[in-house]
Amino acid sequence: MSRPQKTEESLSPLHLAVLENNSSLIETLLKEGAKDNEDRFGITPSYLSKLLGFSNALTKPKKKTILIYRNSDEKIHSIPISEFEERLKITYCESLIFDSIKTIHKIAKKCARKMKKEKLRQMNTWTLALHEKEMEKERADTFYIKWINRYLGYGVFAIRDIPALTYIGEYTGVIKRRNNRKNRFNDYVFSYDLCGKSTRWCIDAKEKGNFTRFLNHSDNPNLTSRWVIKDGITHIILFSNQRIPKGAQMTYCYGPWYWRSRSSPAPL
Ligand SMILES: C[S@@+](CC[C@H](N)C(=O)[O-])C[C@H]1O[C@@H](n2cnc3c(N)ncnc32)[C@H](O)[C@@H]1O
Repeated sequence: MSRPQKTEESLSPLHLAVLENNSSLIETLLKEGAKDNEDRFGITPSYLSKLLGFSNALTKPKKKTILIYRNSDEKIHSIPISEFEERLKITYCESLIFDSIKTIHKIAKKCARKMKKEKLRQMNTWTLALHEKEMEKERADTFYIKWINRYLGYGVFAIRDIPALTYIGEYTGVIKRRNNRKNRFNDYVFSYDLCGKSTRWCIDAKEKGNFTRFLNHSDNPNLTSRWVIKDGITHIILFSNQRIPKGAQMTYCYGPWYWRSRSSPAPL
């Protein structure tokens, strides 16, 4: 097979091998000393792999287990993610997933433009100062998932006392074009805002997502969501806005738009 050449878009052979989702070529290139260098939008091949939802030599191994509360024995169990996925009929993903490099570049370009504004850059710097390390490192789970009832479904609960301003997780899922009519019936859509401004995209966690898709709504939530631009791309993260005692349900406010087309939320 012929090796991919550098294109006018200045993608490296390693970027191109990722785009082909060609695991053996990625391994060969890495053995030959290919570097995980950024493209002109600041996206490295390993980051590209993660954002396209691929798993290969460049990506971290997937999360292996998750904590769930079993009502039958009233105990918390660690179960394999594969079992969780099968039971809940979802694919567990720890990162945003994009349909193409074109969308990633479009968003990276917009983010770079936003970061030219002093005020937004400062806000981003503060959010990163508070949460960047936690976003990157492998953390012990702060939560467990528990079935509440037929009306509420599942919820997310604190496994231990959690101090205020603790990073809880990123809202992950598939970045899709907003389709308001369709989204109205999708309970797992989160607006993919850029620096607080709405965009034509949303994060859809209906089929692919992480534990944050199980967070329920409260008018007085103990979690706050916030945008942050990290490695050139906007992420929506959740952190505790108060101390959360062990065993308490974690909630965030979905916002008034969510409930416009649904019956009113139960007070949590
Ligand atoms: C993102 S999901 C949250 C996880 C959901 N409980 C599950 O088991 O998949 C959002 C849906 O959960 C339910 N929900 C969340 N918070 C609620 C609340 N405060 N009152 C009533 N239903 C709620 C609604 O059905 C809502 O459309």
